[in-house]
Order: sequence, then structure tokens, then C-alpha cells
Amino acid sequence: MLDINECEEEIIMNQYQTPLFDKLIEHTNENPVSFHVPGHKNGRVFPSQKINPFKEMMPLDLTELSNLDDLHQPEGVIQEAEALAADYFQVEQTFFLVNGTTSGNLAMILATCSPGDEILVQRNSHKSIMHALELAGAQPIFVSPDDDEQVDRVSIISRETIQEAINRYPSIKAVVLTYPDYFGSTYDLEKIIELCHEKNLPVLVDEAHGAHLQLGTPFPKSAIECGADVVVHSAHKTLPALTMGSYLHVCSSKRISIKRIAHYLQMVQTSSPSYVVMASLDLARYFLATRTKKDLEATFSQIQKIRDLLSSLQNVSMQSVRPGIDDPMKTTLYSNDVDMRDLDAQLQANGIYAEMVQNNQLLVIHGFYDEQFDFSRLEQAVKSVNKLKLNDFHGKITSRHAEKDIQRLELSFQELHHLETEWVPWSKAVGRLAAETVTPYPPGIPLILRGERIREKDLEVLHSKEQLFQSIQYDGYDLTRGMTVYREQI
Ligand SMILES: Cc1ncc(COP(=O)(O)O)c(C=O)c1O
Repeated sequence: MLDINECEEEIIMNQYQTPLFDKLIEHTNENPVSFHVPGHKNGRVFPSQKINPFKEMMPLDLTELSNLDDLHQPEGVIQEAEALAADYFQVEQTFFLVNGTTSGNLAMILATCSPGDEILVQRNSHKSIMHALELAGAQPIFVSPDDDEQVDRVSIISRETIQEAINRYPSIKAVVLTYPDYFGSTYDLEKIIELCHEKNLPVLVDEAHGAHLQLGTPFPKSAIECGADVVVHSAHKTLPALTMGSYLHVCSSKRISIKRIAHYLQMVQTSSPSYVVMASLDLARYFLATRTKKDLEATFSQIQKIRDLLSSLQNVSMQSVRPGIDDPMKTTLYSNDVDMRDLDAQLQANGIYAEMVQNNQLLVIHGFYDEQFDFSRLEQAVKSVNKLKLNDFHGKITSRHAEKDIQRLELSFQELHHLETEWVPWSKAVGRLAAETVTPYPPGIPLILRGERIREKDLEVLHSKEQLFQSIQYDGYDLTRGMTVYREQI
């Protein structure tokens, strides 16, 4: 674990190397003739009037040439780049992912569960976790997070809840958790992992939003430091990596088979991995490993200035960052008076784009800014917005994910597969088994999961989200009037 206050000397070693990126540049500098895929032939075959934005990057968009290694059988530069990442993150093995954390979540669960295995899963997990459970034919035992009153979200998984679930379901084979949440809040993961390891249960952590926690204080502890067995990072979410670039880290091969993970990664990822995405993963690791104390002080000073500016928005409050609990790279604005969707729209009208609005909380995700950050656009936007009267907020502030205690699906995914479905209006939906998954997006956490019994409370939450114009993903055709359920009355 690197502490930014101490180990500038120690970081360094070979972490300045970027083997994969360098190899791509070397290859490109040879001005090679391409008689291979992709069809754009190093950018030479392309609609000429549209090439400009792509020009520099196209020659790096290569394929598995003999000097460029193979993501699915790494023995050359990709292996070197992955080894550097494993060294930096202090894990046994790092896999580069080109299909996002989605593919990492699928592979880690498929590699760990056999059909019918009972798996303890945080209920407010991303849909990719739910998809993995279904593909693996696992039997999820869901645990719900507790309310974190200080931030008005349900996000705390407690050791007691996990203990109770293990007591109730002693055949559990693994534990799947998400840490931190989308807003950057964490809980005492270390204690939970200790408990699970006492029972020799592997702990798989979706740390999509926490690749940068490896930097140490003042960030909350990373899942790797907390002792997780597998950790998946969306490098593209918080590091300077291209979209879809993620890492899967195996921290302990005592409880997890690296071979099985590699096997499933081959299945769930493309056989034509993007070298541009992979090179960006090489560079993102380099970027993280070479951040100096001075760099980070500059970043935090810029973040503070942004927070100060955002604090001057009228009728809007800002959540404080609790040391060791909340990620200082995130800022959450909220209000009981004005509609944060309107604030978001007005900021956008001034060229400022935040990450998302959920339950009248607006999430701003910061980056590793340097001294050059230009505040003028934000200053101007804040001034303009403060001249307006934002719409009043009329939604229900309690429209969070409804807690469901510790629960097991009544039927396995395989059993559900054989049932007929029908569409019913909302008035007839309560008490029926959902045949489709309903997911507010972002953040992509299913509100009603296929196979769950629909409760009045779920519909209340769903309808309040609709009133807030939150975008909802679902399989059916008319979510405004009802949804699809299984035909058999069980
Ligand atoms: C907690 C969590 N896990 C996984 C994912 C999926 O990550 P990716 O987009 O890298 O596939 C997301 C995406 O938002 C997420 O929020």
C-alpha cells in the first residue's frame, strides 16, 4: 500500500515504464504497411473529411501482431504491463479488461460459483453482478445496506448483517460486495472481510469507483488493502483511462483460481481487444504510480476551489467529506427546496456537465486536476445560475432503494427460465413475481429484480423515481402502466 505522504522514493523503481504504450508508438514510428485488421489500415482508409478528431489515435488501434502480444495469452508487452500494474496495486495478478468492470464482474463470479451455489450478495449491486449470478446459475442470498442518515442514502453494509446472513445460510460459498458506492461512501469492509475469511469465504469486490483509492490517505482504504480476494476497478471512471478500460486484480489465489478467472475472461471479453484501451490502462497505472505529494496537493487545492464555487450556489447544500469514509474526489450537492434536475439543466446550459442526479442529490466527480485547471467557465455558470429562480423540488426525498432485509429468490434462475410471462397493470402487480428487471440508470442498480416478489413499497419507489424523471431501463414495453410478471401464481 502506498501512502502518498511517505513513499515517493519507493514508488518509483520500474513504475515509470509504460511497455505497452511504448511498443505501440515504436510500431507506429516504423510507418508500417497494414495487410491485417482493422479495416481502417492505421487510419489511412477513413472518410477523409471526418478523420481529424481520430487522426493521432488511429495508427495505435492495432491488432495482435507478433510483436504486440495477445490479451488472452499474454507473454510479451501486455504481460509486462499487467505485471507492472500488479506490482503497483500489490496483488498477485492483474488482468487488463477491455469490456469494462462489467466483464470483470461476470468473470469473477463465473469463476467462483457453480450452478446452485448460494452466494451472499449486496442487494444494491450493479446489474452486471446480477447478470453474472444468473449466468452462473448461482442462488443469491441478498443482504441490504443500512441507511446512512448523514448522507441520506442506503449504503452501509454492516458486519452484523453479514454475520446474520452467514448464520442463516451456512452453505454460502462466496461473498460479493460493492465498495465504495457511486457517491464515494465506504463502510468497514476490513471487518467484514476478516469475518468472511474466518469462514474461509472468498470476498469479491466490485470497486468500480475506487481505482484511485490505492493512493492511500486521505482516500478511504481500498478493497485491496482491506484484504479482498478479487477486486475489479473501472479505471476509466476515476483514472485517466479510456472508456471500457478496467482492471481485475486477484489478491489471493488461496481462495480464487487465477486460471478460472482467465478462462472466463476469454469468454466474456471480445477476441479483438482494443490496443488503445489497453495502452490507456498501462498509462493510467503509470499516472497513478507516479503522482507525487505535490501533484496531489495541487489536485486537492483545485477541488477545494471548485467546492467553494459550488457552495456559493443559492439554496443548495453540499455534503461534507468524512475523513476515511468518503472519497474526496466526489462532491454531492443536495437541496430540500430546489429541484437538482433543474440545477443540472442550468449548469449544462452553461457548459458544465455533472455525473448524475439521483433522489435530488447531484453528483460531481472530480479528476486529478493540476494547477492549469480553468475555473472561469464554472465561475460564470455559478453566477448565471444564481440569477435564476430554480424550480421548486416537489419529489419525495425518501425515494431511495427500499430495503429488503436478508432474502433469497423463491425460485432459481433455471426454474424462472421455464415459466410463462404476462403483462399486468400496476394494480395487479403487487404480490406477483417480477419477470423483468427494472433498473434506474444511472446508477444501474436494479430496483426490482427478475424473480423478486413485487411489493407495494417497490412501486412507490419506482413511481417516485419516474416523477423525478429518472431514466429507467427495463425489458417490458409500457412501464408507465404496468410490468411483466410470471404467469404461474406461486
Ligand atoms: C458499481 C458499478 N459496478 C460496475 C459498473 C460497470 O462498470 P463498467 O461501465 O466499467 O462496465 C458500474 C457502472 O456504472 C458501477 O457503477
